[in-house]
Amino acid sequence: MVVNRVPLIAGNWKMNLDHLQAIAFVQKLAWSLADAKHDAASVEVAVFPPFTDLRSVQTLVSADKLPIAFGAQDLSEHDSGAYTGEISGAFLKALECGYVLIGHSERRTLHAESDEQVAAKVTAALKHNLVPIICVGETSEDLEKHGPSAVPVAQLRAALSGISATADIVVAYEPVWAIGSGQAATPEQAEQVAAALRAELRETLGEDVAAKTRILYGGSVKAANIAGFMREPNVDGALVGGASLDLNEFSSIVRYQKHVGV
Ligand code: PGA
Repeated sequence: MVVNRVPLIAGNWKMNLDHLQAIAFVQKLAWSLADAKHDAASVEVAVFPPFTDLRSVQTLVSADKLPIAFGAQDLSEHDSGAYTGEISGAFLKALECGYVLIGHSERRTLHAESDEQVAAKVTAALKHNLVPIICVGETSEDLEKHGPSAVPVAQLRAALSGISATADIVVAYEPVWAIGSGQAATPEQAEQVAAALRAELRETLGEDVAAKTRILYGGSVKAANIAGFMREPNVDGALVGGASLDLNEFSSIVRYQKHVGV
């Protein structure tokens, strides 16, 4: 089956930019993409600001009908209740979030998120009609011990337990050793793991989901290396951290088709 997967360039701002800075950034990003006549139907762009920015971003995007999607960096597995500091998927949906990052390596390491919690969060996201961007990736120790795809594939398998074969999901392969290190994986490494992740999707959820699901690469993506990743058949976009905070760099990544003639 041939399915046209619209590439997705997602900017994970992490704990950077307050709501005023977020408004300025999104407005300028929209102008920059409009100036460059960027076609949102050919490459989708999404930003993932801190929770406290989401209402401001929503107001701007909806008032000006900007072709920029947005989402949160995490959500609670619960709908409501005595969970101090947590944010429910229902709240995110009420702010018109389209996506939510789940299981980012910083959540897994700094907040000890387990595969079971990641799976529960994926279920919660889908329940509230948010598209989960399920983040998986191996450390350099994992790489040495288990090879390139064993850990990401096992993390994906665990994250998918309990979801249906019609689910709308995105997978982000982010080798932990490549995040924020300036040392990106090679396109061949990214492709090898992305292909293994797609095979896992096929096995767990069937051909349709495997064919339609976008698999992103993340880890030290920048304007100078995005094209190489996007040439790979199983890489359908990028999850960008540091470079998503630099307007020119990020808008150049989004427009990778133009500046490199892919
Ligand atoms: P980086 O971060 O692009 O700064 O390596 C990627 C991420 O953590 O999503």
